[in-house]
Amino acid sequence: MTTLVTSGKTKELYTTENDDVLRAHYTDHTTAGDGLRNELIDNKGAVNNQISSLIFGYLNQNGVATHFIEQVSETDQLNKKVEMIPLEVVVRNFAAGHFQKRFGTDYLQTLKQPVVEFFYKDNDLHDPIVTKSDAVGLDLLSAEKLEQLEAAGLKVNQVLTDLFNKMNVTLVDFKLEFGINADGEIILADEISPDSCRLLDKDTNESLDKDVFRKQTGDMMPGYLEILHRLQKAI
Ligand SMILES: Nc1ncnc2c1ncn2[C@@H]1O[C@H](COP(=O)(O)OP(=O)(O)OP(=O)(O)O)[C@@H](O)[C@H]1O
Ligand SMILES: [Mg+2]
Repeated sequence: MTTLVTSGKTKELYTTENDDVLRAHYTDHTTAGDGLRNELIDNKGAVNNQISSLIFGYLNQNGVATHFIEQVSETDQLNKKVEMIPLEVVVRNFAAGHFQKRFGTDYLQTLKQPVVEFFYKDNDLHDPIVTKSDAVGLDLLSAEKLEQLEAAGLKVNQVLTDLFNKMNVTLVDFKLEFGINADGEIILADEISPDSCRLLDKDTNESLDKDVFRKQTGDMMPGYLEILHRLQKAI
């Protein structure tokens, strides 16, 4: 018997025969504007499952502890069950999105050093940005664990920037989610895919990510497939 444990805008998580393991099913749902736009894009779930599996497998092998166990079908993968931390960790190398808007920068302005931001995962509040001091004051997480999240975010940035450079892709920014495993350790969870990263072809600066859907500039799937194919070659 397998039962649905939780579902979000893009994934469904099911029980398995092992209490510590969940099966993540990647759907074709694609959202933008705080979930206001929600469309089914054919094959997106399968492509993102494959991309996320390759990236998490690579991170596991390169010194980053993650929830990823193995890919089990086109659309599904096994993950270690964790208690999710209600924070999104965003790492930025160039200005885009909320950051560009907030500070009135140019698109892709180079940042002097990678920026790490925390957002409080609360749909009713529309995921507001939180400082480390806010997060400690609100008793969301200890100062020590926040430092660990920041360090893990920067480590993932280093490993993935090098990987994407090899693929002739610029890693502009990305969002991570972490959880606490049965041993009380912080591990990387959720997904890493073109839904959660800004990825540009280095030659053309063309977006190979969800910005194509957000900005409604065309079909986003060719970019997603391009990322998958370049990853398959690079890893
Ligand atoms: N290893 C894991 N163990 C338990 N829950 C997980 C794990 N990895 C991801 N999740 C959770 O699975 C849920 C479904 O993911 P999905 O990406 O669809 O959510 P979402 O729409 O982004 O919504 P949310 O705001 O809850 O993150 C999320 O709540 C996510 O935090
Ligand atoms: Mg999500």
